[in-house]
Amino acid sequence: MPRFSYRSLAYTLSTVTIAVLAAYFHHPTNPVYCYDSIKTLNKTVPSAQCFEVSPSGTFTRVWSSNLWRTARSGHVIPGLWDGHGHIMQYGELLHSVDIFGSQSMEEVLERVRTYANENPHAGTEEEWLRGVGWDQAAFGGQMPIADDLASISELRGKYIMLDRVDVHCIWVSQAVLNLLPHPVKDVPGGEIIGEGVFCDNAMDLVLKFWPKPGYDSRVKMLRSAMRALNKVGLVGVHDAGITDPTFRLYEDRVSTVGWTLRVYAMLECEKRNTFCHPELKRVDDNDMFRVRSVKLFADGALGSWGSALIDPYSDRPDTTGSLLVNDSTMESVAVAWAEAGYQVNIHAIGDLANRVAINAVVAALRKLCPTESLWHCQHFRRFRIEHAQILHPEEQARMHAIGIIPSIQPTHATSDMYYAADRLGEERTAEEAYRMRSLLPLSPVLGSDFPVEPPSPFAGIYAAVTRRDPKTGKGRDGGHKGWHLSETLTLEQALRGFTTAPARAAFWEGKAGVIREGAFADWVVLDKKIDDMDIEEFRDLRVKETWVAGKRVYARDED
Ligand SMILES: *[C@@H]1O[C@H](CO)[C@@H](O)[C@H](O)[C@H]1NC(C)=O
Ligand SMILES: *[C@@H]1O[C@H](CO)[C@@H](O)[C@H](O)[C@H]1NC(C)=O
Ligand SMILES: [Zn+2]
Repeated sequence: MPRFSYRSLAYTLSTVTIAVLAAYFHHPTNPVYCYDSIKTLNKTVPSAQCFEVSPSGTFTRVWSSNLWRTARSGHVIPGLWDGHGHIMQYGELLHSVDIFGSQSMEEVLERVRTYANENPHAGTEEEWLRGVGWDQAAFGGQMPIADDLASISELRGKYIMLDRVDVHCIWVSQAVLNLLPHPVKDVPGGEIIGEGVFCDNAMDLVLKFWPKPGYDSRVKMLRSAMRALNKVGLVGVHDAGITDPTFRLYEDRVSTVGWTLRVYAMLECEKRNTFCHPELKRVDDNDMFRVRSVKLFADGALGSWGSALIDPYSDRPDTTGSLLVNDSTMESVAVAWAEAGYQVNIHAIGDLANRVAINAVVAALRKLCPTESLWHCQHFRRFRIEHAQILHPEEQARMHAIGIIPSIQPTHATSDMYYAADRLGEERTAEEAYRMRSLLPLSPVLGSDFPVEPPSPFAGIYAAVTRRDPKTGKGRDGGHKGWHLSETLTLEQALRGFTTAPARAAFWEGKAGVIREGAFADWVVLDKKIDDMDIEEFRDLRVKETWVAGKRVYARDED
């Protein structure tokens, strides 16, 4: 029998006391964040003050009393999503000279010269200096020539290739011209203008010699894009068309530290509108990269009369634009992808293209669910129309009846408003074009189509709420009145378009775009309550912080 000892009694007592105190003052081991306010977008509990985040990056608790805790300064909203953007193309733009909006040859050359000085590696035979955004309208209508670039001594001898604003022409330097066989032969469907500009199919003559960015450059572009997207408050993007090399790059990079954005990707075939990669069948996924959808294309753009219309263009009565594929091809491709388990997302701008796209969706749904209603089948399969820009009243009715999801870019409306009525006429514009409010029951997904438009979702919200151009703050006529105000959204509806709607369209409802127990711990910190802000502040709003999976991926103070 052990001898009684005061020492062991004291030891036992102190151990017990510590255990009791520890239990009494128990703190969750998970980090807790409290803010001035938290807008959750959960209808039953719309606001909160604190949340707790698990090590795996989900919210484990959301509550409303910050008693005993000091709040971090700032007002939280759920992490934002862009429902339609192009991550790698945006990264490419970030690694080239931005010559958009330059007003003269001097200004273009100055921007290229500055870029060349800051990026001495660019311009070699292995890594050409790239740029986008010139327009000969800024050169008095005169097409540029290779010699223009040689007028700046720092640029002489460099390999330079600059895309026109619409990326349908390239302007190259003498070093690039020297690579081509002489004399250069004409190309059907292409045009060679002067000494240094190649358009449409003639661009291939040059692109054959262009050293495509290698793995390291592509990784750099990807990281730059993700960083820049986090900076505007985005935690996720629906990447609207990744071809096989990008798919493989993403698979390779998804678990590295630079991957700070959730990506819901649409596969795109090397040859458009085909059934490719059947071997991938990657319908399953992880929380940072999900591939469950395919991108198909019905037509081209309105600006260049490329979108397919039912009736002729108002400013070109000789044409209705053109479909990229006929009805039966679109249907059979859509059916093939749908049967392979994919969500089918079809690019459609013109009202004829939208009709063909909806026909294809209907064909796919009938095939998938022969005995159910189309609405019921669509409720689970969630097929989408990307852009859904010009919708004949009949197609608007069909979309409502079936529940087809429109994926809309509010800033396209405010960029196109200057010429849309020229192409379509006033009546067609008013009845069919750039709908938003009339599509609300379909939970439209909102996005920007970056790099075509700047990626800030706040600019998109501004465009949706005011139907005015976020770049100028003005409407179609240069005044304060927005364009076709009957299609505006409220702030709350627009915010849902960048949060809960893209979550649902990516089969991540309840996980993304909302702050609730079990959801991804993604949030954005603003300086003010979003509901208290003046709408004009959205035009160039800068977020304070962006968090993805419980980690801070952007902080303005460290920027
Ligand atoms: C549709 O296009 C495909 C491929 O170009 C062609 O084979 C087919 O005959 C066309 N179908 C119709 C109905 O025009
Ligand atoms: C709101 O939060 C509660 C509690 O976490 C949850 O049960 C409910 O499903 C949430 N509602 C939505 C719409 O996310
Ligand atoms: Zn796009």
